Amino acid sequence: MRRAGKITAAARALAGEMVKPGVTTQEIDKAVYQFIKSQGAEPSFLNYNGYPASICISVNDEIIHGIPGKRVLEEGDIVSVDVGAYIGGFHGDCAATYACGRISEEAQKLIDVTRQSFFEGLKFAREGYRISDIGHAVQEYVERNGFSVVREYVGHGVGRQMHEAPEVPNYGAPGHGPKLLRGMTIALEPMVNAGTAAIRQMSDGWTVKTADGKYAAHYENTLLITSGEPELLTVPAP
Ligand code: MF3
Ligand code: CO
Repeated sequence: MRRAGKITAAARALAGEMVKPGVTTQEIDKAVYQFIKSQGAEPSFLNYNGYPASICISVNDEIIHGIPGKRVLEEGDIVSVDVGAYIGGFHGDCAATYACGRISEEAQKLIDVTRQSFFEGLKFAREGYRISDIGHAVQEYVERNGFSVVREYVGHGVGRQMHEAPEVPNYGAPGHGPKLLRGMTIALEPMVNAGTAAIRQMSDGWTVKTADGKYAAHYENTLLITSGEPELLTVPAP
């Protein structure tokens, strides 16, 4: 899991550095594919339920699962990159939203609140708490900052499979769900909308957008539950 996490986080960093005006999303996908292969790993997403690329790139009002293609990134875009890598029988999974050139203050706040909401949830990612304690902390922080949390998609256990039990929602009342035990590895991944929480599924079968057309951001790391501080297996993106 540590090896997979290292490669996955490095792939995310590479993608993040490539987010610049004039770059196409498929150029980023290709570079990440080559990097993951160069590390002796496999891109976890490629062919997952028929998914046609190595990473997901979701721009502006796209929340998650955007398919890389000919789209040219423009100044002011916010670009969510989601990456998975598989090596030695285990997966890493992480995501972050990057600014393309200069972005609006509101867009930057959305990115910052989404990232911080992960760390608010992380405070409860340790033995002695239950799964919903994490999501409760995420939701409270996001809503206190005037944004909303996506409900239809959630974090998850991660290990030999990319998606394992338990589900890790980013919302809910505290004190529910499975107890956290040391040794569990989970992906915590808040998806945050600037406007309402409602989503819209696109006809490509993958891309998920905000229903109101406002921007969305995403932030994810794979982590190990311990009896104390959780261990981040995908080194957090800045
Ligand atoms: N990375 C997503 C997650 O965090 C899963 C993407 S699956 C894909 O759970 F097929 F869309 F790539
Ligand atoms: Co995930």
